[in-house]
Amino acid sequence: MMVLFDIFQWYNEISKLTSMKGKVALVTGASRGIGRATAKLLAAGGAAVAVNYFQSEGAARAVVDEITQAGGRALAVRADVRDEAQVRAMVAEVGERLGPVDLLVSNAAIGFPVRPFTGFTWDEFEAKLTGELKSIFFCCQAVLPGMIERKSGCIIAISSTLSRHSSPGFIAHSTAKSGLDAFVRSLAQEVGPFGIRVNVVAPGLTLTDATAWLPEEQKTMIGEMAPLKRVALPEDVAGVVFAAASDHCRFVTGSYIPVSGGLLML
Ligand SMILES: NC(=O)c1ccc[n+]([C@@H]2O[C@H](COP(=O)([O-])OP(=O)(O)OC[C@H]3O[C@@H](n4cnc5c(N)ncnc54)[C@H](OP(=O)(O)O)[C@@H]3O)[C@@H](O)[C@H]2O)c1
Repeated sequence: MMVLFDIFQWYNEISKLTSMKGKVALVTGASRGIGRATAKLLAAGGAAVAVNYFQSEGAARAVVDEITQAGGRALAVRADVRDEAQVRAMVAEVGERLGPVDLLVSNAAIGFPVRPFTGFTWDEFEAKLTGELKSIFFCCQAVLPGMIERKSGCIIAISSTLSRHSSPGFIAHSTAKSGLDAFVRSLAQEVGPFGIRVNVVAPGLTLTDATAWLPEEQKTMIGEMAPLKRVALPEDVAGVVFAAASDHCRFVTGSYIPVSGGLLML
């Protein structure tokens, strides 16, 4: 009888650590791809999820419908994450309708041209750098005062393995994502004393709309180079975001977690 009780206690403890129940998550760029998979997984874990979108309203509403039909709580919220006023309005709306944000997943994909450096104009290069950094800057500024007051919170920035090893044509993306990584390390230092964790999850090539243009042979070749012998699915990245956000990772901050099947080893 005592053994059964212990197992029950242990199971309860484990479930509490992995549960997102009672948490409010804001996932930017959650209408499609990695953000969509992340929003659905967090909701399945019990979080109330704000599904941010920019242009794909129908897709965002479909994510919300899927979550609510499965018994979860979700809200579609439009904002261009590069725009401070829109981000502030979004976080205020999430606060009113779901509650204060406990978990921010800054995921929205800021577009960029893939081309050699000599073919870039400064304006094109700058648009990627500022877009990437504005999105994390504005989202963090909007959610952090509440997190600091409550002395708890978690922020996960979706970077890319290309922030650590580059590839021809990806100079704008690599530069912007390494700026994002540095931002996360600095922020993790600053807000750690308030019980707030900030980490990077860095996907390698993942099959989403953003990579649909890549020739199949190239995707297969990249998959073959990885020890786990394939490229990522959005759900592979979502799983790592979930794990990093869970209380199992309560002593992890300022970290960079590659999700590349072992292609990037640090
Ligand atoms: N796929 C990969 O191979 C890969 C690899 C490494 C890193 N990543 C990173 O993973 C993240 C997600 O990429 P993904 O491949 O899942 O992209 P995706 O499938 O193309 O989806 C992009 C998402 O970002 C949203 N978005 C774009 N601009 C936005 C803006 N200004 N404000 C708010 N939302 C915006 C889109 O919303 P709407 O459709 O509503 O406009 C959409 O939900 C990005 O940070 C990307 O850099 C991806």
